[in-house]
Order: sequence, then C-alpha cells, then structure tokens
Amino acid sequence: AQKSFSIHCSHHLGYIPNYIQDPNHVRVFDTTLRDGEQAPGATMTPKQKLHIARQLAKLGVDIIEAGFPASNKADLETTKLIAHEVGNTVVDDGRIPVICGLARCNENDIDKAWEALKYAKFPRVHIFIATSEIHMKYKLKMSKEEVIEKARTTVAYARSLGCKDVQFSPEDAGRSEREFVYEILGEAIEAGATTICIPDTVGANWPREFGQLIADIRANTPNIQNVIISTHCHNDLGLAVANTLEGAYAGARQVEVTINGIGERAGNASLEEVVMTIKCKEEALGGLYTNINTKRIVMASKMVEEYSGMNLQPHKAIVGANAFIHESGIHQDGMLKNKSTYEIMSPKDIGLLRSNEFGLTLGKLSGRCALKAKLFELGYNFEETELNDLFWRFKSIAETKKVEYFYINDIKYLSSVESENY
Ligand code: KIV
Ligand code: ZN
Repeated sequence: AQKSFSIHCSHHLGYIPNYIQDPNHVRVFDTTLRDGEQAPGATMTPKQKLHIARQLAKLGVDIIEAGFPASNKADLETTKLIAHEVGNTVVDDGRIPVICGLARCNENDIDKAWEALKYAKFPRVHIFIATSEIHMKYKLKMSKEEVIEKARTTVAYARSLGCKDVQFSPEDAGRSEREFVYEILGEAIEAGATTICIPDTVGANWPREFGQLIADIRANTPNIQNVIISTHCHNDLGLAVANTLEGAYAGARQVEVTINGIGERAGNASLEEVVMTIKCKEEALGGLYTNINTKRIVMASKMVEEYSGMNLQPHKAIVGANAFIHESGIHQDGMLKNKSTYEIMSPKDIGLLRSNEFGLTLGKLSGRCALKAKLFELGYNFEETELNDLFWRFKSIAETKKVEYFYINDIKYLSSVESENY
C-alpha cells in the first residue's frame, strides 16, 4: 500500500535554507569529503577537495559535508576554503549549497567547526554522539543521562554561536534502543536542531528494519514534524542504498551519500545509485525527486575515482566501466533493435557518451550483428559470405583469449559534461 507523504518540512526557528521546501523533495547531503575520505587510503589534498566541492555544487548537491574541522588542521583549513569559495557561489539554478562540518559533542569541536563554516552563506554544524549500549558502554563510558545532557547542551551551544542550521546524529542509531533514540532526538530538537540524521553506522540494518526505524521515529519523537529527517547508511551488508531508499519511502527527506559509495569499511550509500533509483522509480516512490543534475554524475564519479585513488569495480552500478556495455549475442541483437530491451536508463542520463551508440563489445558470446556493426563503425562493409568467414575466425580468437574491452578507456575519457575546473 502507498504510504502517506504529507510531512511538514518547515523549520520551527524561522530559518529556511535555500533548498526547495517541497514535501517530495529529497535533499542530497554529500559526505564524500568527510565520511568518504575516511575510506582507508582515500586522503585527498585541499585543492582536490575544493575541486570536488565545486563539482558537487554543479551536480546540484543540496548540502556538502566538507570535513571534520576539529580532527586536524588540514580539515579545518579545507572546510574554511570550501565555505568561502563554494558556500558563496550561486550554481546553475540559482542555489547556493549548504556547507556542513562535523563535530563531536564538545565545545572545542563546535568552535572549530563554526570557525570554518561561518564564512558560508548557509553554514551547518553537524553534531553527533553515540547512543547504542555497546558504544556508550565501551567507547564513551557514559550513562544515558550523560549522553542526553551532552546532546542537549552542545546543540544549544552551536545555536548560541549564531549557527541557525544544526544537524544532530545519534551515532549507531541502527543498533540503539528505540525509546532512548526518541528521547535524545526530542531533546536535540528542543535545543534547536533543524535536521535529525539517523545513522546505521555499522550497516547492521536491512531495508524493512531501517524503514521501520524511520517510521517509528516519525511517530514517536516529540516535535519531529518541525525538522528534516535524514538517512545515513553504511554498506557492510551491501544494503546501504536499499536502506536509504526505504528510509526515504518512510519519510526521510534528506539522504546522506558519497560519490561512488566510498567510505569507511564497505563504504556509504552511493549518490549515483540512490539518485538514479529515485529518478527511475519516481512514481513508485510517490513522486519523490532530487535536485541532482544527473548528466554530471559521470564527471563527478571520475574526479572522485582519480583523486581518492579508490578504483571502481567494472560492474559497479551506474558508473562502472561495464554498466552500459553489452556482450552476449542475444543482448546485442536486442540493443540493435531497441535499446530499452537491455537498458533501463540511457547512458546519456548520467553524462556518458559511449564510443559506439549501442554499447556493444566483442567477446566469445557476441553475435554476427554486433561484429557487423563494429566493422561498419570502423569503416568496413563486408559481404555476408565474407562476414561469415570473419565471424568464425573472430569467435575462435575470442574463445581462447580473454575478452578485449577495447574501449573501456574511451569511456573513461568521453564525458558529455564540461571539463572546466577539472
Ligand atoms: O556513520 C556514522 O555514524 C557517522 C556519523 C558521524 C554521522 O558518520
Ligand atoms: Zn558514517
């Protein structure tokens, strides 16, 4: 049954960020530069991070989490730079993205975050503290009461500095006791939080469970209707994207994602997968939509792949090298007749220009029609009998050799989107 989407997105403190206040608008919060960079070996230079932030703004990301300013000097300076440069630049559709920075529940972290973020037109401080038994007992060594007190006082402290947009996250919410989550969220809202983020920090939830968590929070947290609920899903079971979508279906109107899904351990929900699913399934999702200019996805993906050094697997959904390539004869035949036989979206939708229109590659399963089309593209037009002979010679080579993906590199460098700033 279709769920109700009549949620209210008004901000109780009168602060209306520059994104559209539409109940079906799902805000995209990109954390490539913060949680994404936490992926082992993914450290990027300040200049690279600035380039990525500019690209994220052009992509249409609503909120850019630029770093964790208190964690090191480079993060502080880079967040400041991004707040200055990207946080005051109007992008295509007249919007300026919100620039966000992470802080633990202490005044020093919040001071550092604010010091960096205050230069942005729309700054947001993101405060978090763990709420699961396991984290409170072994990591924080704090009681529930102490954790609630920290959340309340630090959210209020961030507001007292002049920050009108404060996000609060109960870390490990996916494994936290429900009643405690409702209580701490209610306190954070009371203290001035404007977005409530629900992290499945260790990717322990499955879609039905995470969707129910969001629904329960909506139903049981005091004043929740005054704030935006966000998902923040990790991919330890490969469910980050599915969980994020269930969260949005249950009423979350912000999704936290990273380009290419990079992040700690198995990573975070990937921006391109979440965004393209929302686009492809708009009707099934009750009209949900994002502001992402999907034609810029490939450019952002390539940039993050190169700068982070986190190489994509060829079969990665949406942006993998094979995502729009067809090898078997039956599929190639279908593609040559009508592309929707084997493609649910056009590569052009994500800004990918294939070196051949049908995305055909030649391997041992390829058919005559694909060989003919490829030869034609190369400028050869053989008679049927010649083609027959060529086909069997081609097959015998293809069967003994590994498949030759001869135009993977073409794909790597062929993007329809502009390349300025890259
Ligand atoms: O995964 C997590 O819990 C986080 C928080 C800091 C939001 O990244
Ligand atoms: Zn995280």
